[in-house]
Amino acid sequence: MQPILVKDKRFKVSMPASKIQARVQEVGAQISHDYEGRTPMFISVLTGAFIFAADLVRSVATPSEIAFIRVASYEGTDSTGEVKEVLGLKEDIAGRDVIIVEDIVDTGLTMQELVGLLEKKNPRSIAICSLLVKPDKLQVHDLPIKYRCFDIPNDFILGYGLDYDGLGRELPDIYTLVTE
Ligand code: IMP
Repeated sequence: MQPILVKDKRFKVSMPASKIQARVQEVGAQISHDYEGRTPMFISVLTGAFIFAADLVRSVATPSEIAFIRVASYEGTDSTGEVKEVLGLKEDIAGRDVIIVEDIVDTGLTMQELVGLLEKKNPRSIAICSLLVKPDKLQVHDLPIKYRCFDIPNDFILGYGLDYDGLGRELPDIYTLVTE
């Protein structure tokens, strides 16, 4: 397949939509099984996880709720993943079974901070469901990543909600940066 040009960089398909969809259904079935009889509260991290979250909640048979949040970093320290606050969470999550829906866990620093902030709101449980994990970049090894669709190499990717400079989120497949 021909590479595509997004802004100033070329990307090629590394994971077709059919493979993503099949795996999301599998993970959804696993969540349905694990949370049977409960009503989990999905908390999806904007913006990158919005497409994954939409597919995931529809693949889970048990009733659920969904909320969308943003995380704000301290200025100038976004590379450290330091999260200042969780924006947009109006729902009371005390006593709830929370499943954080994320597009990609890279270093894991963002997720570590987010889990810490949500724990202070006294949920019954917290699990992470990440579409992608880059295991070689992971710096935090005790994250509750109960569900993950795919482990991927360190390359930069876009599509299926993930962006390069705001572009590429609408693409149904996942693409990897062409480096040569
Ligand atoms: P972490 O704190 O290093 O785990 O950063 C995770 C965040 O970095 C994700 O939610 C994405 O927004 C972004 N990110 C990491 N790797 C990629 C990538 O390959 N493509 C697009 N965004 C990425």
